[in-house]
Amino acid sequence: MNRASLLPRIRSLRAQLLWWLMPPLALVCVIGTVIAYYAAYNYATRAYDDGLFDTARALAQQVRVADGRAKLELPKQAVEILEFDPYDRVFYRVLGADWSDVAGRQDLPLPAISPSAKSPVQYYDSEVQGIPVRVAAFSAFDSRGHVEFTVLSAETLVKREILAQRILLTVVLPQLVLIVVVALLLVFGVRRGLVPLRRLADAVTRRGYHDLSIIDDTDSPEEVRPLTRSINEMIRRLSYALSAQQRFIADAAHQLRTPLAGLSAQTERALDETRIEDMRPALEHIWASSKRATHLVNQLLSLARADPGREFAQIDIAHLLRQTTMEWVPKALARCIDLGYEGSAQPVFVKGDALLLQEMLNNIIDNAIAYGRDNGAITVRLLSRPALQIQVEDDGSGIPEHERERVFERFYRVPGSSGSGSGLGLAIVRQIAQLHGASVSIADAPSGNGTMVCITFNKVTRSPHADVPAEPDPLESLQHRFQSDTRH
Ligand SMILES: Nc1ncnc2c1ncn2[C@@H]1O[C@H](COP(=O)(O)OP(=O)(O)O)[C@@H](O)[C@H]1O
Ligand SMILES: [Mg+2]
Repeated sequence: MNRASLLPRIRSLRAQLLWWLMPPLALVCVIGTVIAYYAAYNYATRAYDDGLFDTARALAQQVRVADGRAKLELPKQAVEILEFDPYDRVFYRVLGADWSDVAGRQDLPLPAISPSAKSPVQYYDSEVQGIPVRVAAFSAFDSRGHVEFTVLSAETLVKREILAQRILLTVVLPQLVLIVVVALLLVFGVRRGLVPLRRLADAVTRRGYHDLSIIDDTDSPEEVRPLTRSINEMIRRLSYALSAQQRFIADAAHQLRTPLAGLSAQTERALDETRIEDMRPALEHIWASSKRATHLVNQLLSLARADPGREFAQIDIAHLLRQTTMEWVPKALARCIDLGYEGSAQPVFVKGDALLLQEMLNNIIDNAIAYGRDNGAITVRLLSRPALQIQVEDDGSGIPEHERERVFERFYRVPGSSGSGSGLGLAIVRQIAQLHGASVSIADAPSGNGTMVCITFNKVTRSPHADVPAEPDPLESLQHRFQSDTRH
């Protein structure tokens, strides 16, 4: 398993730092130790090798050559001194010009390479009776460059091993201590480094639930700033949303107060009367006020319902549009308005919430009827190209260009508007459209005076057979004037 795949499971920053830093550090330490050990060991054993060479040379000085034959003249005490070593066993061997043994141990191995006048000394590792030894071989040459005799001096490796262990201890121990110190420093450093984060967390936790002030990050380190900036950005959005909500509640309460005040005033008026006929005008007012209040409450509920996070299903928008248009026929008839539908006779699917989409259409058609012209015409249209679009066109008074953005604000009504609207209809339309990834726009009606409200879907999922032609195709599409149906 590689380290990267392990990482996501390590949650602590401290553990992650240790995980990334300690193995490479340990590797560097090990490599450093090995190099330092071999360098130190090499220099130290060279001194011992020099000692071995001194012994070989001292022996060589005691060799006499007569008639080409070498002879070692060494008193017994001198041999004892020579062989004395507090740690190691020392061996020697003297050989003549023809490599015949002159003195010493005959089982002391010879050098692998023949000696030459240029390099009369050789050092090599070997064994005597299975015991590892270090050997120095020294050859003496005559004036013609021929070997006169060779002296081997050898010793076991005890003091060299003791030295190796000492070097190892002096090199490795500090490295181990270094690793532990670095690890501790890391742990400590990370803890120190994370203090600002903990302080930030404490500051956020300690806040009262309506404290939406900005977090002060002047003392925060650079790395923490993106976090505080994001939190501050979120706080700004939250406080904007909160104040918008508070404004909305205040507006809603204000709007509800009017019909409710009317209700109580008219009820008082009715109660002052004794005869039922005299109560009638007040009762009619009560009826109108309660209708307004009910409408307002329903609109408010629609707004609250059109919140993100709802489950969407595949909705046949063509069917929904036809159905909804049909439901408005009686209202249109009451004003002698010709209400028509143009669009696909086949299903056109969008992902959405049927109730909300219907609510959206209701508000648009309601406006078209309310602000349309008596004996006028309203057309509800479904187009598929260039994008899937719903159009509701009327031939009423129209909405002035400079009001076309404001009419979407909650509780906003164009001054002098007729009827008892709440100013919430188009706000609901926009909210539901946005929820479905669609946009709303208001244009002049192509046929002349009047308004055309367009809902344009940008992300739609459609079934393969449900493409609607851009120009209504007589075979596939449906043009229906409900008005003419109902007139017969
Ligand atoms: N089809 C339309 N024709 C003319 N004016 C319209 C139309 N639709 C909406 N409006 C104007 O936009 C305003 C806001 O509409 P809306 O949000 O539905 O509120 P309401 O209908 O309750 O007044 C209305 O007061 C009206 O003046
Ligand atoms: Mg309306």
